[in-house]
Amino acid sequence: MTGEVPSIGRGELEALQLERLRDVVRRVHEHVPHYRHAFAEAGVGPDDLRTLTDLARFPFTGKADLRANYPFGMFAVPREQVARVHASSGTTGKPTVVGYTQDDIDTWAELMARSIRAGGGRPGDLVHIAYGYGLFTGGLGAHYGAERLGCTVVPVSGGMTERQVQLILDFEPRVIMVTPSYFLAILDELDRQGVDPRSTALEVGLFGAEPWTDEMRRAVEERAGIRAVDIYGLSEVMGPGVAQEAGETQDGLHVWEDHFLPEVVDPVTLQPVPDGEVGELVLTTLTKQAMPVIRYRTRDLTRLLPGTAYPAFRRMEKVTGRTDDMMIVRGVNVFPSQVEEQILAVDGLSPHYLCVLTRPGSLDELTVQVEAATESYAADLGARLADRIKQRIGVTARVEVVAPYGLERSLGKAKRISDQRPR
Ligand code: DLL
Repeated sequence: MTGEVPSIGRGELEALQLERLRDVVRRVHEHVPHYRHAFAEAGVGPDDLRTLTDLARFPFTGKADLRANYPFGMFAVPREQVARVHASSGTTGKPTVVGYTQDDIDTWAELMARSIRAGGGRPGDLVHIAYGYGLFTGGLGAHYGAERLGCTVVPVSGGMTERQVQLILDFEPRVIMVTPSYFLAILDELDRQGVDPRSTALEVGLFGAEPWTDEMRRAVEERAGIRAVDIYGLSEVMGPGVAQEAGETQDGLHVWEDHFLPEVVDPVTLQPVPDGEVGELVLTTLTKQAMPVIRYRTRDLTRLLPGTAYPAFRRMEKVTGRTDDMMIVRGVNVFPSQVEEQILAVDGLSPHYLCVLTRPGSLDELTVQVEAATESYAADLGARLADRIKQRIGVTARVEVVAPYGLERSLGKAKRISDQRPR
């Protein structure tokens, strides 16, 4: 059935992975000059893959490699066979471009259908898609998957929050696909219109594209009366649909290992770490045609755990930080997600926040700007949060509590860090 998770044993899955891995390594070696050179430099070739662990001898691929081969240099098929491109803007320099053949788009739709179903969507559901449409993979990726599953798709894209609310009230979708931070903005708009967010038809939210904590999950589920489920992916590897949390268990994300081979490496030594240990997630595509990637460094921190809802497929723990987002405040490593956990523990604060890094003298300072939940709020809210951050995370932070809507809202991925330190 469409979107069904294959019932396959672990042994069978690993045999399939090895076969597909050999094929993809052979293809990129033959068709992508970047890989031919990188493999030669590392002294490895397609014949060196006898077991899955041999992959560890192969070089990593990073965002810089994609930039150096901008725009189409990483394609493994002639450009004419590429049916679609997506791109991620990044903060500096050129965007990274990714390409899909018609077969790739088909596989992606199938994997997204699988993800939506695993997350709690069903054929016939009305699905409100508020991920951005365009070069970002979120909107179109979700769209093709929901259509494939047999859902009624409402392609709203991001933005125009009042209209989002109107369509949610009029069309009565059961499923919403959106970044968790933008969902908060939609909930605020429901409140503003005097509608109880728990009264809508929504039952399932498939939230991803940015880190969000279990505390945020609980807060959103409570406030909206829905099940909040995690969906993970990245454009360089495909887009959304690389790993999906099962709606029934909500215990981390099953990596669709028949299409993506996950490894976790120590971010400093870059050596693979055993399952269960936290490190940087590295992904190899097993079936992509237009732009396969070998050992792509995601920068996302997680660990691999055994499968539960789908036993053959390992899970990755919820990603709560990226190596790029690690703030070092006077020697202490802090991720925005740790700050988010503490904010959600203080009654009277809303989860709209921004971590501002400055260096007034020779030392870094962290200021947390956070919105109060209501117009009138207790004077000690800031002190209470600062105290929790000190006690639980071990850093001194200044806290600025601002009135509701005092911080800029994002329509897609939330900006959690503003780095204002002198270069
Ligand atoms: O954000 C793809 C996507 C769209 C995933 C919609 C889920 C839903 P990029 O723009 O290339 O692609 O950004 C990828 O976003 O490396 C993570 O750092 C972060 N990310 C994506 N999903 C999650 C998640 C899309 N569920 C980057 N939890 C990734 C935490 C996530 N971080």
